[in-house]
Amino acid sequence: MVHMFIKEEIKTFQENRPQTREIWQKALKVLPGGISHNIRTFGLPLIGAFPVFINSAFGPYLIDIDGIKYIDCWNGHFAMILGHNPPKVQEVLKEYISYGWHFGTNTEHQVKLAECVVKNNPGIEKIRFCTSGTEATMYATRLARAFTKKRLVAKAGLGWHGANDTLYYAVGSLNSNLFSPGLSTPKDAGILTFEINSEDIFDLIKINKDDLAAVILEPILGGGGGFPAKIEFLKRLREETEHYDILLIFDEVITGYRFTNALFQTAIKVIPDLTTMGKIIGGGMPIGAIGGKREIIDRSSPEAENQVLIGGGTFSGYPLSMIAGLKTIEILNQSQQEYLRINKEGNALLTNLNRFFSEERLPLIAKGYKSIIMLHALTKWIEQPSLREIIEFKDKKREALLQLSLFNRNISGLHGLGSISMAHTHEHIKKIQEVVEEIAHPVSQTNLS
Ligand SMILES: Cc1ncc(COP(=O)(O)O)c(C=O)c1O
Repeated sequence: MVHMFIKEEIKTFQENRPQTREIWQKALKVLPGGISHNIRTFGLPLIGAFPVFINSAFGPYLIDIDGIKYIDCWNGHFAMILGHNPPKVQEVLKEYISYGWHFGTNTEHQVKLAECVVKNNPGIEKIRFCTSGTEATMYATRLARAFTKKRLVAKAGLGWHGANDTLYYAVGSLNSNLFSPGLSTPKDAGILTFEINSEDIFDLIKINKDDLAAVILEPILGGGGGFPAKIEFLKRLREETEHYDILLIFDEVITGYRFTNALFQTAIKVIPDLTTMGKIIGGGMPIGAIGGKREIIDRSSPEAENQVLIGGGTFSGYPLSMIAGLKTIEILNQSQQEYLRINKEGNALLTNLNRFFSEERLPLIAKGYKSIIMLHALTKWIEQPSLREIIEFKDKKREALLQLSLFNRNISGLHGLGSISMAHTHEHIKKIQEVVEEIAHPVSQTNLS
């Protein structure tokens, strides 16, 4: 029976999506791999299927071009914490778009959004906006190198900071030597890598202290698979970097405003020198930002002596991003109960799924923190697998089947699921759990060879 599972799943998926199949064929002709972001295939071509194409979204739902409605856990790469198309954000966007949407100059909303972030976060004395998290992390490392006059940057293995030339190392694996053609070697790029929650980094810091400009990591590895750094680890990193005059950079593109109406660092009281931000603070519009200590950020000012050249994007501080971000943060500032609720619901979902996988001895594991929840499929059952084991025994085809089986049951997600938004009710989350438990056995047991 289970061997039929994959065939039946692919058949159902394809039969229900004639329009999607047609657009996919067209996409393959004009877009490399049919997509404009590597992970948006959902891995489905690996098992002979194709990704979904979305037409519209509201609240917790996405609707695809064949009219199929999904409870969405991907939430626009974690950006849509209020759910999709929140009416109050839509309302201000509609109002402001009537004034024009791209002036290529300064707007008061840039100042207001900056004030908003500075007010909520003691670690952000000044902030500079750009258009994406990818730019923000590239600029943060450049600022760090210029400020410290040192060359090396240590990044967490599996950390995803966008596809810039500086940090696109050790992304899908812990091994920085597996890097893309077209990039310099990690040695030439001045990149070192370390594993979160491991002692390696403290040795690395000591050995390279005279040449190490910065350590950069996400407090919770997002794209890497939902692995949280321990608070104690982050605290010690803060102490050791400070001791050796090395800058600490938190990439809070995902964690910023995800668990409270502030950055994660503010909640845990571990304050880095520089912080990169994006996603939620743009309310679903393109955004990136670098913030931190005044004396470092000010080095990017045109007035600065020996200015560090960062920024310059046509769309930096994009008016609609500023407006959507401001409205979103205004709503989040009044959403304490909702934060508590989604944090709790996410935690429960994570615990319940792992209990189920473990009791049934299934080679699946949920990873995450509060409202972030990701699923991994492994090639064998391992009791409480470590980060290294999860990466070593990752079963990409099975993960694709998991994703496909979720779509067939009207759940959309990436990295398994993704995150809970404030538009998800308890009923939605219960449904997500039921669906994952329903497919867990056949997905784990079907023969994929
Ligand atoms: C932690 C983190 N940093 C940086 C980035 C890059 O941001 P963007 O996609 O806006 O360029 C991402 C995107 O997923 C991210 O998750």
